[in-house]
Amino acid sequence: MRKPERPMEDKIKAIEARIHAFAIQTREHLEEFRLQFISKKGELTSLFDELKVASAEQKKLLGKALNDLKKLSEEKFKTGQDQLESAAVGQSFEGDLTLPPIPNKIGSQHPLSLTRYRIIEIFERLGFNVEDGPEIEDDWHNFTALNFPENHPAREMQDTFFVEKNPDVLLRTHTSNVQIRLMKNRKPPFRAIMPGRVYRNEAISARAHCFFHQVEGLYVDTNVGFADLKQALYHFAKEMFGKETKIRLRPSFFPFTEPSAEIDISCLICHGKGCNVCKYSGWVEIAGSGMVHPNVLRNCGIDPDVYTGFAFGMGIERITMLRYSINDLRLFSENDIRFLKQFKAVM
Ligand code: PHE
Repeated sequence: MRKPERPMEDKIKAIEARIHAFAIQTREHLEEFRLQFISKKGELTSLFDELKVASAEQKKLLGKALNDLKKLSEEKFKTGQDQLESAAVGQSFEGDLTLPPIPNKIGSQHPLSLTRYRIIEIFERLGFNVEDGPEIEDDWHNFTALNFPENHPAREMQDTFFVEKNPDVLLRTHTSNVQIRLMKNRKPPFRAIMPGRVYRNEAISARAHCFFHQVEGLYVDTNVGFADLKQALYHFAKEMFGKETKIRLRPSFFPFTEPSAEIDISCLICHGKGCNVCKYSGWVEIAGSGMVHPNVLRNCGIDPDVYTGFAFGMGIERITMLRYSINDLRLFSENDIRFLKQFKAVM
């Protein structure tokens, strides 16, 4: 007697055998497997289609076998996929596993910060503490209280950016506004430095920018004299630039100091012989200074017959350029990592 025809059952068995035999070793194999057995156009889908038209008895019989087959193919696909993925992860560990890892780059402090910290450190040892104030300031604290008469040409020296006109609100042109706030709000004696950002309406070049940083200093007490100013700045110059550094004071003008002087240091590059950094003079300017003008003390409610004081102000950019031999001020604000990573704390 002929064996009854059982085409569906045979097909299921045959496919099952092929699934077992299929070796998934590459991504291409995996894709081939998917197309043959899993995708909508694969062999299993067509068997399910066949089952739809089979008799109820056959459905019962073969439905389970077909579902088992489907499960088998999906499991095999998943296992193959997992194995290929973990092999790919393993690949990145190939090579010498004893080599140190590539370190994370942690960056470095900005050269202007390094210089600011150093300036603060030097003056802190002389008993100066650090004061802070607003960058957006009114006209009175930035100009009028500092003895700049309204419409006086001295205001031209420090053209600024106005936030508001009448009443005038502006970006401070120097940190002297902090001196005014300190003298108005507290009783002398004061010995403080004021680091901070300042703004001026200037064309940007290698030597000037529309914003830069300053440290100003103020010492008010009974019997503060010009010799104290000179000694404090001489000490600063030697600490900052080295023991051999000399200083020179040149008469100058500021509305808020009288007498006033620019402070120069002997050129660090040529030691006084003459080079293009000092423009062949042997000296480089680092700060403005002077004895606080009696009008300024009076404007802040301090009696100039009892108290005297000295003040000075220097650009942090300028000191940093001298310290590290940097020839372009724009480098400080361009955020070029190749420039910034060269600076390490030299405390
Ligand atoms: N405020 C002056 C400036 O920015 C610097 C200065 C401060 C000069 C204190 C003398 C005394 O130019």
